[in-house]
Amino acid sequence: MKLKGLGAGLISVWLSGFLLIALSFYGTLLLSPSLHNPSFSSDSSVSPRITIFTALHDSSSSFDSQAIHSWLALSSQVKIVLFTQHNNNSSLTDTFGSRLLLDSTVDFTFLGTPFLHSMLARTEAYASDIAVLIDPHTLLLPDFISALNYADHELDRDWLLVSSSVNIPRFPFHWDQTGRFWRQYNGKRVRFGELQKMISLRSLQSNSSEGSNMIMAWNNVDSPLHCGVLPPFLYQRGTHNQWIVNEALSCKRRFVFDATSTISSVSIGNAERKYDTRSWEYIGNSHLGKLYGSLSKSYALPKLLKCNKRYILVTASDGFRTREKISACISRSKSRSLKLEPVKKDQAVSPLKLPYDLESLLPLVADKNRTVVLSVAGFSYKDMLMSWVCRTRRLAVPNFLVCALDDETYQFAILQGLPVFFDPYAPKNISFNDCHFGSKCFQRVTKVKSRTVLRILKMGYNVLLSDVDVYWFRNPLPLLHSFGPSVLVAQSDEYNTTVPINRPRRLNSGFYFARSDEPTIAAMEKVVKHAATSGLSEQPSFYDTLCGEGGVHRLGDDRCVEPETNLSVHFLDRDLFPNGAYGDIWLKEDVRGECEKKHCYVLHNNWISGRLKKLERQMMKGLWDYDASMRMCV
Ligand SMILES: *[C@@H]1O[C@H](CO)[C@@H](O)[C@H](O)[C@H]1NC(C)=O
Ligand SMILES: *[C@@H]1O[C@H](CO)[C@@H](O)[C@H](O)[C@H]1NC(C)=O
Ligand SMILES: *[C@@H]1O[C@H](CO)[C@@H](O)[C@H](O)[C@H]1NC(C)=O
Ligand SMILES: *[C@@H]1O[C@H](CO)[C@@H](O)[C@H](O)[C@H]1NC(C)=O
Ligand SMILES: *[C@@H]1O[C@H](CO)[C@@H](O)[C@H](O)[C@H]1NC(C)=O
Ligand SMILES: *[C@@H]1O[C@H](CO)[C@@H](O)[C@H](O)[C@H]1NC(C)=O
Ligand SMILES: *[C@@H]1O[C@H](CO)[C@@H](O)[C@H](O)[C@H]1NC(C)=O
Repeated sequence: MKLKGLGAGLISVWLSGFLLIALSFYGTLLLSPSLHNPSFSSDSSVSPRITIFTALHDSSSSFDSQAIHSWLALSSQVKIVLFTQHNNNSSLTDTFGSRLLLDSTVDFTFLGTPFLHSMLARTEAYASDIAVLIDPHTLLLPDFISALNYADHELDRDWLLVSSSVNIPRFPFHWDQTGRFWRQYNGKRVRFGELQKMISLRSLQSNSSEGSNMIMAWNNVDSPLHCGVLPPFLYQRGTHNQWIVNEALSCKRRFVFDATSTISSVSIGNAERKYDTRSWEYIGNSHLGKLYGSLSKSYALPKLLKCNKRYILVTASDGFRTREKISACISRSKSRSLKLEPVKKDQAVSPLKLPYDLESLLPLVADKNRTVVLSVAGFSYKDMLMSWVCRTRRLAVPNFLVCALDDETYQFAILQGLPVFFDPYAPKNISFNDCHFGSKCFQRVTKVKSRTVLRILKMGYNVLLSDVDVYWFRNPLPLLHSFGPSVLVAQSDEYNTTVPINRPRRLNSGFYFARSDEPTIAAMEKVVKHAATSGLSEQPSFYDTLCGEGGVHRLGDDRCVEPETNLSVHFLDRDLFPNGAYGDIWLKEDVRGECEKKHCYVLHNNWISGRLKKLERQMMKGLWDYDASMRMCV
């Protein structure tokens, strides 16, 4: 519905009087170059391009097609971007046509929950005048567009509009695609005014309009909503709407206002969805809200109201000066408003614990070959862990799993949405900077790795163990699978190009693929037993157990066979799986180019001492996929 232009004749004496009062009372907020010329353009060629963003929680989750229909019906200038894990669901595009785009480039957790910061970063990629972020179950009526048009035309600075919706269990009408209107089930057409009335009646009855089904809309989509850095909030799991409003207010870059009373919107079936089993996701978001961002006081947003077909903005502090006429008008508009719980720093939040242990995580993350990619990390390598995770996400390898060596890493990983478990047997005092190759600390940590791999193999899953300092260029799993059963495939740590790659103690225990079969499990038992009694790291235990001391069980130049278990060990081609000292790859100007030339699958950032040097080398060479300051993958 386009706003009716306010012709000069329409502006009665009363109205101009009212405007004058309004002007004087709501001075700073009344936005007013355009008040002198208060007619909206009804020319659709200048109406703003609007992009509505929403996300599905996992690829199979359903949403309300009624909601999507209602958005597309708002205006021909509306486009929809639906973030989903797979952009190949043709039933969606068939139903809604070309104004609905599927975008699978944002990050999701292992349970398929999208990350809000990743979604918001992505909104900038779409050219539009106004961006809208909305729950996929929220139905909109055309007064939404009127409110946006108002903001677009009348506000003389960047703005953020927020609005909350009324919950209803179901929407008792269906969309008539050809007629482009709503019908009752008896076939009778429903008029917009009737819908509006129904919604406003409903909102009077309902108690609350929480922040959880908040609609946000903003202009100048290239400019950030707030000054802070959004933590990795899980979309639609609480806290983030409050956080954004709070940060946007304290940043003052945008004018933030509540348009709830002017927008008819309903959230369908929200009550049932709210209390699902993933309450830990809500707890995680509230941790993030506490951890990051500024302290917030309670606040009352300026409200957009509609009076006699005109919009006015009112701030809380104006309230006491409200004159009779205006107050009558305001009460007529049955003003609803957004209720947000401010993010409180002093509020205690329960400790973070994922409701999954190793055993219950495995079936959630393993691929159809029952294979998982395992990484083991302590807090000193948390950024490197994230870079590694971003890389696996980029390569669309979803079946990774993180073993946390300490509680800090465990908590951190949960907040990043990673499938993580905590090894209670891990050594407790891992040195932050000095846990490098050869150190006592390193020896203790590596033994956790083989023990964990063995546990997983015994539960019936194959394991690709990859240290976080292994940079992945492409997914090695199909190749590693092709070696078949009873073969353990490992990276060689040999750097000398003129000697066999299976020389003594050249088995790298930081990147290997072990199958859950009898020979492998029996051989890994031996490795773990050997390591437990050895004063060295686990790496020599691997070699001495599987290839024999001095390499007596070697076979050819790239294999060993352990005689008791008949497990074969295959050393991987170093051009495809180079270690950090092979071919001076890390010394090359263009490491990535060099690896692409060799068709590397991975490159190990080993053969370098010290955490900082290691980090620096990988960042300097551009093999880094995590922006710690933005808290997101790049
Ligand atoms: C496609 O999307 C619809 C609607 O959300 C859903 O019901 C269906 O399962 C999806 N199909 C696939 C193959 O993911
Ligand atoms: C879409 O792609 C995903 C993985 O890329 C696949 O698992 C799924 O079966 C595909 N769905 C359809 C409907 O093609
Ligand atoms: C409104 O809230 C009160 C108390 O908070 C509750 O008893 C009542 O059931 C609520 N009504 C509705 C319609 O949700
Ligand atoms: C810390 O590590 C050392 C080995 O480096 C070990 O001997 C010591 O018992 C550990 N201390 C604690 C409190 O775990
Ligand atoms: C799963 O196993 C089959 C058969 O070994 C292999 O062809 C395929 O590449 C494997 N898939 C992955 C993702 O590793
Ligand atoms: C590589 O091995 C050969 C033969 O053992 C030896 O002569 C050469 O010095 C080694 N090169 C390096 C760089 O260690
Ligand atoms: C290993 O292989 C040899 C010869 O193929 C066979 O005699 C032996 O029984 C096998 N051992 C095991 C444990 O399978």
